[in-house]
Amino acid sequence: MTELAATFQQEAVAEAYQHRPPYPDEVFDRLEELIADEPRRVLDIGAGEGAIARPLAPRVEHIDAIDFSAPMVAAGKQRPGGDHPNLTWQVNPIETADLDGPYALVTAGASIHWMPWEQTFARIVPHLTPNAQLVVIEHGPVDEPWTAELIPVIERHSRKQNYDSKFNVVDAIVERGLLDLTGTARTTRVEYRQTVADYIERLHSTSSLARDLMPADEAAAFDAGVAEALRPYAKDGVLDLTIQAELSWGRPKIAG
Ligand SMILES: C[S@@+](CC[C@H](N)C(=O)[O-])C[C@H]1O[C@@H](n2cnc3c(N)ncnc32)[C@H](O)[C@@H]1O
Repeated sequence: MTELAATFQQEAVAEAYQHRPPYPDEVFDRLEELIADEPRRVLDIGAGEGAIARPLAPRVEHIDAIDFSAPMVAAGKQRPGGDHPNLTWQVNPIETADLDGPYALVTAGASIHWMPWEQTFARIVPHLTPNAQLVVIEHGPVDEPWTAELIPVIERHSRKQNYDSKFNVVDAIVERGLLDLTGTARTTRVEYRQTVADYIERLHSTSSLARDLMPADEAAAFDAGVAEALRPYAKDGVLDLTIQAELSWGRPKIAG
C-alpha cells in the first residue's frame, strides 16, 4: 500500500469524509438501469463509508461493500442507511476479498485508481453474471470560480507529487486490455451549498491533504490559506457549489 492509500486507514480521514458532497440521485437511477441480470446483487469495491453502497442498497437485492479500511467501514455503518438489511460490509483488500456473487453490477466510486487492476479483475470477473457491468464513478464540484486562487494553496501542501491532470483512469484500464468500454455518461449538474469550514474538511478527506500527513502548524496554514482564497466567494460563510458525476461502464476482463 502506498503512503497516500494508507491515509484511508486514518480515523480523521474517515471522519472528514462526511463533508464530501453526496453523489447526485441520477447516479443511482443510472446504476439501476445498468443491471440487466437477476439476482440484482451488487459488489461495491473501495466502498469507503458507503457513498455509493448506502443509497443503492434499498434499490437492489443485495450489496457487498468492500474496503480495506476499518475506520471507513466503521464510519459507514454509522451513517444514514449504513445498517440497511440489503447491505453487507467487509474489511478486506478487494484482491483477496470473500465474494458472494454472482454479481449483476460492480461499482467503483472514486476508488479504482488505488487498486492493482490485474489482481482486482482476476478476483471479481469469475463472480459476474453474463451481462454484468463494472461502473467507474467519479464526482465532485465543477466550474469553481475560486480555482485560480485555491490551486496554489493546494499545490503548496499536497503530498501528491507530479500530479498529471490529463491522466484518465478508465482510458488507462482500457489500454491495459482489462475493460471493454460500453458507455459513458455525465449527470445533470446539481446545486449544493456548503460552509467554508466544511469545504476545508472535505479537502482534508482527500489522501494527499489528510490532516495526519501535515504537522499541526502546516494544517493551520493550509486551512487559513483556503479560507482566504474562498472568502470573496462565500456569502455568510457559505459557498454555492455545482456537483456533477461521470460514469463509465463496460465488461471487465482478466489479463492475458
Ligand atoms: C476515495 S475513497 C472512495 C470511497 C467511496 N467509494 C466513495 O465513492 O465515496 C477510496 C476508497 O478505496 C479504498 N481502497 C483503496 N484500495 C483498495 C483495495 N485494494 N481494496 C479495498 N479498498 C481499497 C480506500 O480505503 C478508500 O476507502
